[in-house]
Amino acid sequence: MTRTLTSPRPRRRLRAISLATLTAVVLAGGVAATTAQAAGSTLQAAAAESGRYFGTAIAANKLSESAYTTIANREFNMVTAENEMKIDATEPNQNQFNYTNGDRIVSWARSNGKQVRGHTLAWHSQQPGWMQNMSGSALRSAMLNHVTQVATHYRGQIHSWDVVNEAFQDGSSGARRDSNLQRTGNDWIEAAFRAARAADPNAKLCYNDYNTDDWSHAKTQAVYNLVRDFKARGVPIDCVGLQSHFNAQSPVPSNYQTTISSFAALGVDVQITELDIEGSGTAQADNYRRVVQACLAVSRCTGISVWGVRDTDSWRASGTPLLFDGSGNKKAAYTSTLNALNGGGTGNPDPGTGCTVTVSRANEWSDRFNVSLAVSGSSTWRVSIQTQGGQTLQNSWNATVSGTSGTLTATPNGSGNNFGITLYKNGNNNNPTATCTVP
Ligand code: XIL
Repeated sequence: MTRTLTSPRPRRRLRAISLATLTAVVLAGGVAATTAQAAGSTLQAAAAESGRYFGTAIAANKLSESAYTTIANREFNMVTAENEMKIDATEPNQNQFNYTNGDRIVSWARSNGKQVRGHTLAWHSQQPGWMQNMSGSALRSAMLNHVTQVATHYRGQIHSWDVVNEAFQDGSSGARRDSNLQRTGNDWIEAAFRAARAADPNAKLCYNDYNTDDWSHAKTQAVYNLVRDFKARGVPIDCVGLQSHFNAQSPVPSNYQTTISSFAALGVDVQITELDIEGSGTAQADNYRRVVQACLAVSRCTGISVWGVRDTDSWRASGTPLLFDGSGNKKAAYTSTLNALNGGGTGNPDPGTGCTVTVSRANEWSDRFNVSLAVSGSSTWRVSIQTQGGQTLQNSWNATVSGTSGTLTATPNGSGNNFGITLYKNGNNNNPTATCTVP
C-alpha cells in the first residue's frame, strides 16, 4: 500500500464557501451564522477536505458483523487493529509468529481502500508469557527480533507504526516506566525505532502514549524531551501518537492544542490515535469538537482515530465514549465531530483560539535555558507563559515581558511574532507552558 496521505492541505475551498455563506447571512439581515456548508457527509470525507484521515480501531472478530462493518466502512479511512498486532497476538511462542487476525484486518482495510496504523511493536503490556519471563540481553534481542519480524511481515502496508507504546510513568516524575523492557537499558526505545526503520523504511514511526495531552504534565514533557533528543541525534522518529482517552478524571485539557503544536514544532507529525471521551449529550459533543478543532489548528496534526466504532465496541463501554450508540445511531458527538471537521463547529472557541503559540526549547546552560516562542494567527497577541516551580526570568528579546516568576506576560514590541526568554532553572529543568489570546 502506498502512503498517499501526506501533510494536510490548506482548506481554501471551504474557506471561500464559509465566507460566502457568512456574507449571504449578514446581507440577509444579520441572522447569526450557522455552521459552514457540510463539505463531507462522513467523517472520512470531512477529514479528507483538509488532507487528514479519520480512523477507528477494528476488532477482527467483528468483521463478520454487517452492522459493524457498514459503519466502519462508510465513516473511516484508517484502521488500527485493536489487539491483533500486539506482541501476544503476533508471537504467542518465541519465534513462532501468527499473523492470522492481523492479516484479516489488513486485508479488510485494503479491500475497502483504507490505510492501516500498526499497533504496537514494543510495549510492557499484552506481552506473551515467554516474554514476560525474560530479561536482560536475551529480552533485548527477543524484542528487536519481534520488531524486525513483524515490521517485515507488514512492510509497505502500514501508514504508521506505534513502534513503542506507553514507555513513561504517570505522575510527576517524568521518569521512564519501570518494565522488563526498560530494565534492558535506557536505549531500548531508540533500538526499537532503528530496527523498525530498517525493516519497514516507508512507514512513519511513532511513539504513542496516554496522559500526554496536558502540556503541563511531567509525562508530556518527558515524551517531548525524548522526541527532541531523537531529532537532535538522528534517531528515526516521524510522529507522536496521543492516545487521548478522556474521562472525568482525565478531561480534555485546555492546553491540548499547545501540546499538539509543541510536538509538531519538533518536526514530527502528531496523530490522535485512540480517541474516546466518556460522557453523553452536549458535554461529550463539545469535548469531541474541541479535540477536532485543536487538531485542525495544527497543520502537522495529520489524523484522528477513535478507539472503536460503537459504544458497545469500546474497551470502556460503560462510559459510552464513542461516536455511535450500541444500535449504530449517530450520537451528538458524531455531529459535532463532523461539523468541526467541516470547519464549522458551533460553540465557543477554546481559550487561546485566535492565535497559537508554540514553545520550543533552545540553548541550554547548566543554570539556565532559552525558550523560543512563535505566535501564529494574529499580529496582536498576549502570551501568558507559565514557568515551572522555582524558575525565574533572566532575559527576554523581541517582546515586552512582564513578571519574573510564576506567570509571565508577553506582548509585541514591534519585532514580530517570534520572541524568546531565558529562564534560570533554580533546580527545575522543565519547559514552561504558554497560551495565546488576542486582546
Ligand atoms: C485495549 C483494547 O482496547 C482492549 O480490548 C484490550 O483488552 C486492552 O487494550 N492503550 C493502548 C491500547 O495502546 O492498545 C489499549 O487497547 C487501550 C490503551
